[in-house]
Amino acid sequence: MRQALIKQFLAAEGRYVSGAELASRLGVSRNAVWKQVESLRDLGYSIEAVPRKGYRLVERPDRLYPWELGAVLTTERFGRHIEYHESIGSTNERAKALGVAGKPEGCIVVAEEQTAGRGRLGRSWISPFAEGLFVSLLLRPPFRPWEAPKLTLLSAVAVQRAISEVCGLESKIKWPNDLELRGKKVCGILVEMGMEMDAVSYVVVGIGINANLRVDVLPDDVRERATSLRHELGRPVDRVALLASLLSYFERLYDQALGDGFRTVLELNRRLSSTLGRRIRVLTARDEWEGVAVDIDHNGALLVRRDDGSVQAVHSGEVSIRA
Ligand code: BTN
Repeated sequence: MRQALIKQFLAAEGRYVSGAELASRLGVSRNAVWKQVESLRDLGYSIEAVPRKGYRLVERPDRLYPWELGAVLTTERFGRHIEYHESIGSTNERAKALGVAGKPEGCIVVAEEQTAGRGRLGRSWISPFAEGLFVSLLLRPPFRPWEAPKLTLLSAVAVQRAISEVCGLESKIKWPNDLELRGKKVCGILVEMGMEMDAVSYVVVGIGINANLRVDVLPDDVRERATSLRHELGRPVDRVALLASLLSYFERLYDQALGDGFRTVLELNRRLSSTLGRRIRVLTARDEWEGVAVDIDHNGALLVRRDDGSVQAVHSGEVSIRA
């Protein structure tokens, strides 16, 4: 009912709606509407009640509440079951537990804050309260394990499209898992996989977007390399709208990939890449070397031309773009 009420308020676009009308639209008593309004006020919503006019939503708290997302979500599966946390260690850890517990594809875990947010290569992910978008999606793809890395490339395209749609900012994808604005990182993606025998049991796609992060609180070395949507726009972004848009793009791209493969995803990823055509430094667990990024192959690997002219496929690791 809470979600239905929010939907009515959003549809009214700040105009008054009478208690009787809300009650009839929601199929509940006027008293039930009043009680729900009171509970929303307790959560930080500002709702005006004026005799003979009704109710009017004046302000919503900046929270990723499930009913907020549910009121604007357009997907069929992704985000239809939401686990919301004010604070959690890591949404990826939690989503992996849901994967092990057999929860269905499409479940998501969101948090206002992570106290042990994780990045790639054992790094941590700075996750201050209500400033970012910290979300993990549970997937059960019918792929072989070696296909899973392509989900990173798919997720990057979904985030790029969502940022463009909601903020009007055109970010670039730094292979394989970063999104950048003006060469600075604004989003990171951490894909983790659970296996049974040699089949994929579940995949967790963890996405961290520096949405409303105040960059001045970042340590100096991070601030040099990172930015936030808020910083670039000069105003805060609507994190609920961003998440809804992200899930919608993700579902469309994922369904397409399940239907007829990753060709479109790879094509979009190439087009949005900040890495292709650039001289890069490749850092793997074993060694470090330089070359020019020339393409992304059908497996999602980065093809790099080394200085001796040979082309090498990089399947994982970290790249940095040279000046
Ligand atoms: C990276 O760039 O190193 C990947 C960062 C991924 C961060 C996200 S935030 C939501 C999810 N939960 C985590 O602990 N990590 C991912």
